[in-house]
Amino acid sequence: MTVLKDTPSSEQRPAVQVRPVRDRDDQEAVYAIREEVFHHEQHLTPYVRDDPDDAYSLTVLATVDDRPVGTGRVTLFGDEAQIAWVAVLKPYRGRGVGSAVMHYLIRWSQAQGARYVTLNAQTHALDFYRRLGFEPVGRRFYMGHIEHQVMVLDLRAQPERK
Ligand SMILES: CC(C)(COP(=O)(O)OP(=O)(O)OC[C@H]1O[C@@H](n2cnc3c(N)ncnc32)[C@H](O)[C@@H]1OP(=O)(O)O)[C@@H](O)C(=O)NCCC(=O)NCCS
Repeated sequence: MTVLKDTPSSEQRPAVQVRPVRDRDDQEAVYAIREEVFHHEQHLTPYVRDDPDDAYSLTVLATVDDRPVGTGRVTLFGDEAQIAWVAVLKPYRGRGVGSAVMHYLIRWSQAQGARYVTLNAQTHALDFYRRLGFEPVGRRFYMGHIEHQVMVLDLRAQPERK
């Protein structure tokens, strides 16, 4: 999948590619991005390789000019698709990489027949997820030192994403 996002000046930026992890190198690139963002940048967790759900989830890698820059993961639990580990390297933020990752994961969830998508959003990113159609549910809570909010996207209320 290719997503090209125009800047306000219409200058063309390099295309963002999103693909499922396909080999060990891709998986290592995913761990490196998780480690950079969730461990070194956010001090949230050093345990970026130890999530047991990885074994039966779809993990994607986003690249710009073949450089790994973003990732995300989705896990199916019955009719719920749960998204986690969404991260984009700092120098590549604000150019559509995170949105491209999310659109890929949401489309895949729809294709699998999921009825809704859930995630634990860091509250600084609420607007990022709201723009994608997610709504907050319940009260905010802390995971580590970072405030989070459960968010839900009802796929039954969504047109099929192309
Ligand atoms: C949140 C994150 C994944 C967004 O990735 P990104 O590549 O910068 O997102 P995009 O460029 O696709 O942004 C899409 C839109 O959301 C907005 N947006 C992005 N991050 C935002 C944030 N933290 N708060 C509010 N709006 C945000 C952008 O301005 C953009 O709006 P536009 O379409 O009007 O330009 C990225 O900032 C990140 O990795 N942060 C650190 C890790 C993290 O917080 N992960 C989420 C855990 S829940």
